Amino acid sequence: MALKIPTPHINAKAGDFAKTVLMPGDPLRAKYIAETYLTDYRQVNSVRGILGYTGFYKGKPVSVMASGMGMPSISIYAHELFEGYGVENIIRVGTAGALNKDLKIGDIVVGMGASTNSAIPKEYGLSGVAPIADYTLLNTLCSEAAAQNKKVTVGNLFSSDLFYGSDPDFANKWGRAGVLAVEMEAAALYLKAALLNKRALAVCTISDSLVTGETTSAEQRQTAFNDMMILALETAKKLN
Ligand code: HPA
Repeated sequence: MALKIPTPHINAKAGDFAKTVLMPGDPLRAKYIAETYLTDYRQVNSVRGILGYTGFYKGKPVSVMASGMGMPSISIYAHELFEGYGVENIIRVGTAGALNKDLKIGDIVVGMGASTNSAIPKEYGLSGVAPIADYTLLNTLCSEAAAQNKKVTVGNLFSSDLFYGSDPDFANKWGRAGVLAVEMEAAALYLKAALLNKRALAVCTISDSLVTGETTSAEQRQTAFNDMMILALETAKKLN
């Protein structure tokens, strides 16, 4: 592996992570996912409170670790997992704010692509790049959704550096261009995976709407995403 372990931000041993890592933003959500869905799980990271666990989903080894908030943070963890721990697939399981009037709280969006205002593409000399999901992961999750009769909306996300932005016309402008929802990590995750020849996908539950102003509490956000988790876990189960 290209990176020496333990890495600066992950205090785990070789083999502590499964090939597929589910990645919520919130460390407590990582803990919740391990406790709720995995069997025989053990904690493999706690550096800076970024909780990580590895266990089994229906017999398949799966890890879950938080990304923290924002593209600099997810870039660090994705890099160290891919390059230090031999992880092949990262599925972000997060929340996003709707930019599309037809998306309701609790709806699931899947990022086929992720537009961004981040400087990260430029730092790689890739201004104008279109960060996109890995097609195998995207297709596997969408097939699973169809099999379960669960509605998912697939399209463009906007990965923002700012939660509290300053443009009052933001939702209208990006919504008009067909961008479904805003979150803060997918574009950097997609770019990191592409650059390292790995695979990534971002799935988000709508937690608020920038169109209607609706919001959910932090508590609702932690638990209101069970459907999304099952989709992500069933996808992880099918991946090699
Ligand atoms: N903006 C950015 N990220 C988010 C939002 C939002 O409104 N909702 C959930 N993640």
